[in-house]
Amino acid sequence: MRPQPRPPRWTSGSRRPPTRRAALAAAALAPLLLATCGQPDLLEAFGWETPSRGMVVAEHPLAVEVGLKVLREGGNAADAAVATALALAVVYPQAGNLGGGGFALWVTHRGDASALDFRETAPVTADAARYLDFDGELVPERAKSGPLAVGVPGTPAGLQALLEAHGSGSWSLRRLARPAIELAREGFRVDPWLAKALRAEPARTRLMKSPAARRRFYPGGEPLREGQRLKQPELARTLDRFARFGSPGFYGGETARAIVRELRRSAGLEPDDAVPAQGWIDFPDLERYEVRWREPLRGRFRGKEIVTMPPPSSGGVAVLEVLALLDGLPLETEAAGLERGEEARRGGFELGTDDLVWNDRLLHWWIEALRVAFADRAVHLGDPDFHVVPIEELLDPERLAAERARFGQRARPDVAAWAEAPRPEGTETTHVSVVDSDGNAVSLTTTLNSSFGSGILVEDGGFLLNNQMDDFAIRPDAPNQFGLVGSEANALEALKRPLSSMTPIVVRDGGHANSLVMGSPGGPRIITSQIGVLLRTLVFRQDPRAAVLAPRLHQQWRPARTEFEEGWQQAVLDRLGARGHEVLVKTERWASVQLIALDERGGPPVGISDPRRGGVAGLEGEPVPAPHLPLPDQPDPLTGEVR
Ligand code: DON
Repeated sequence: MRPQPRPPRWTSGSRRPPTRRAALAAAALAPLLLATCGQPDLLEAFGWETPSRGMVVAEHPLAVEVGLKVLREGGNAADAAVATALALAVVYPQAGNLGGGGFALWVTHRGDASALDFRETAPVTADAARYLDFDGELVPERAKSGPLAVGVPGTPAGLQALLEAHGSGSWSLRRLARPAIELAREGFRVDPWLAKALRAEPARTRLMKSPAARRRFYPGGEPLREGQRLKQPELARTLDRFARFGSPGFYGGETARAIVRELRRSAGLEPDDAVPAQGWIDFPDLERYEVRWREPLRGRFRGKEIVTMPPPSSGGVAVLEVLALLDGLPLETEAAGLERGEEARRGGFELGTDDLVWNDRLLHWWIEALRVAFADRAVHLGDPDFHVVPIEELLDPERLAAERARFGQRARPDVAAWAEAPRPEGTETTHVSVVDSDGNAVSLTTTLNSSFGSGILVEDGGFLLNNQMDDFAIRPDAPNQFGLVGSEANALEALKRPLSSMTPIVVRDGGHANSLVMGSPGGPRIITSQIGVLLRTLVFRQDPRAAVLAPRLHQQWRPARTEFEEGWQQAVLDRLGARGHEVLVKTERWASVQLIALDERGGPPVGISDPRRGGVAGLEGEPVPAPHLPLPDQPDPLTGEVR
């Protein structure tokens, strides 16, 4: 199914005359309009102007620069997102990719929306038994490195589909890929974030096992250092084939041969060894890969509309479930006791400071809502093409009201997932947020799963392959690398898509316009971090920047504890402890929210790239700002290893 909204010309991706002009026309026509009625489009245009400029927020300044240039030269949000994502595949190999997959939301100014699923699929010969040892125990590394870790990549097909469906039509894939090809061919300077990621484990060990990755990233056995030039000629050629021939230039021909050869090599086989039913990707898997267009999920919260990704994203359902649970609670009344923190205000808005002093009952509700949603995630969510996902039941207001009534005053670590039978019929990801001056938004998250994915660099292709198979619940109750457990719904099956936490979100205001565009990397912390930003901005009226910088909390049902970034007031954590919550404060910071806020009608967007990583928010027509720098490497307190 390809629900292709065909919006009226002036809200589609093409560079129509700005809505402001339409607004003026509407103003002139207002008396006639009111007399004739029945002109909702013009009334909307009259009521809500498009942003004055476009914006790109992503995790590398060079990629942001590429996207901004596309906007400046008349491309729309989809054109810019595709060019940015291709550039990230070159300059941000930790997560930007051709060999991974992802999701994208397209939402026009007036709210026509579509959701694109270009998640990886399991190969046709995939078999859960291959990930188990002789005693039937999961061998976790098999789903994270080596040929069995790799799902059939979806990114090339996804970017092409996004462009074909929603691009302005005046930018070809060839033109959009040009800057990425040039960055790959001519090289770019390694930034401190890439240098740090290459030093970190387990990525280093995995990459060192791949001869091509070792040569590319560890010349002479040592990781590339900040400032060194990284040229990727094979990647430039792969991008060029993709740019010229589209998907067939990746899923067939030379690139397909390079992928299959590399996987055989990584399994210790000779390139031409014929191995039937090997359990990993072969030519037919690549040939048959298809994206899916899905109906976006739409929910309401505090007078806003939330547009987000349906399964196989778990994040959309989880975000809507948590917000619906909390919507029925008197958050604002409790917030009366929520003070603005003098200390944080005095210290300015540094990462991890908060301008709110929290009350423990609010946090208790927030945590319990997460616990319920993550319990449901573990039991009910999976690829909807393989498993009936009971979305309506999970989001049913009556059942959520009953669940909410059980919150009580104390933690409920043993809360169970929704238990009725479904109806019989059945560290590494990166995010790009874009708006154009027509008000179109693209929220695109893409991933290799772990940092540098499986670590397998395709020798003659120059790109890394994902390790997305770890996102399946290969054995029920055996946690994956994010500690997530799953069930039948997310069991590994041939051709199935693994459940994901990636959650692109667009918040809409008054049915008129996009007001927030966001997404994040971070595994399950993608979901909890964005819920935090939504609560802080929509309920507690925190400024979007302060909401992104503020400390985060994470609760995912199993394990039962709730993790907190540093910066929460100790007193409130103690009171949560007294309510039976297991509280763990962590020194690390997580996720990386890439947010665009469109507060001022007809004004410029405001962007925030989470300072937890090195991204930037670039405004059309302005120079790209300098990115944040990583903290110096810290020795691991247990092993002494530098991370
Ligand atoms: O799709 C998922 O849920 C995971 N593969 C995402 C991994 C991730 O976000 C790691 N990034 N930091």
